[in-house]
Amino acid sequence: MSHIAYVNGRYLPQKQAFVHIEDRGYQFADGVYEVICIWNGVPADYQGHLVRLNRSLSELKMRAPMSDGALTSVIQEVIRRNRIVKGTVYIQINRGVAPRLHNFPGASVKPSIVVTAKHGAGPPESVAEAGVKLITQPDQRWGRCDIKSVGLLPNVLAKQAAYEAKAFEALLHRPDGTVTEASASNAWLVTPDKVIVTHPLSNAILGGVTRATVIKIARAAGYKVQERAFTLDETKKAKEVFLTGTTTFVMPVVQIDERQVANGAPGTIALDLRQRYRAFLDDLTETAWDA
Ligand code: PDD
Repeated sequence: MSHIAYVNGRYLPQKQAFVHIEDRGYQFADGVYEVICIWNGVPADYQGHLVRLNRSLSELKMRAPMSDGALTSVIQEVIRRNRIVKGTVYIQINRGVAPRLHNFPGASVKPSIVVTAKHGAGPPESVAEAGVKLITQPDQRWGRCDIKSVGLLPNVLAKQAAYEAKAFEALLHRPDGTVTEASASNAWLVTPDKVIVTHPLSNAILGGVTRATVIKIARAAGYKVQERAFTLDETKKAKEVFLTGTTTFVMPVVQIDERQVANGAPGTIALDLRQRYRAFLDDLTETAWDA
């Protein structure tokens, strides 16, 4: 079965779905995106994704191509046409098509939108059970990492470096040693006295939708969670390290560069949070679409 994409008002087989060469997403990375996990046919944290999408648009002074309600209908139709049960939906909105000039085009230029879907959600269970390796990489991104922009070249380079090192992800750090996040997921550690720590919301990280849910799940389970900066040095002394994200869920980390995390086995808190996150997904119902 061929994949069906929604492109600017039409549902097309993906092979026939194209964007214009003067689309500003193509020419300037002048666009934003979201990736949403679909679990048993319904979305995880749908409202969180919508809120972040609208925030990304407004921070870039870009208008939404349609209302939230209309976007929801499009996403539901893409899921239906692609028969997605467990998978991901990708939404990209660009500033539109106009002759190439750096400044914004006139108000008559409509933003462009693409919605696609893929089968398969989350990494295989066996990967999480074994835990993953990270490499460290300098964070070379811009000053507005809180905007989910399609300008992802530094993330791409960091992820490629991880891939070449046979690592799952790249842990990004600032010149002062602060760990911001990973190339496509948020980073966490557990201190020796069992406090769960993740970078606070700021322009230095993407405010992960999974991050917000895992904070809630962890606090509800009785864990102490601190949103504060931490350094590479602190990760070396951590009891546990893990990642979160739409395509990662909760992923225990067992090695960073050549160094083992604690005893080199997935941490018990990370595994517990992973299980609780899975339970959260399993409990989703049709109300997951509601505002
Ligand atoms: N990435 N940090 C970065 C830089 C990310 O790109 C992502 C997600 C996250 C996690 O955010 P969330 O929990 O909302 O998925 C953190 C998506 C999955 C991607 O680019 O494919």
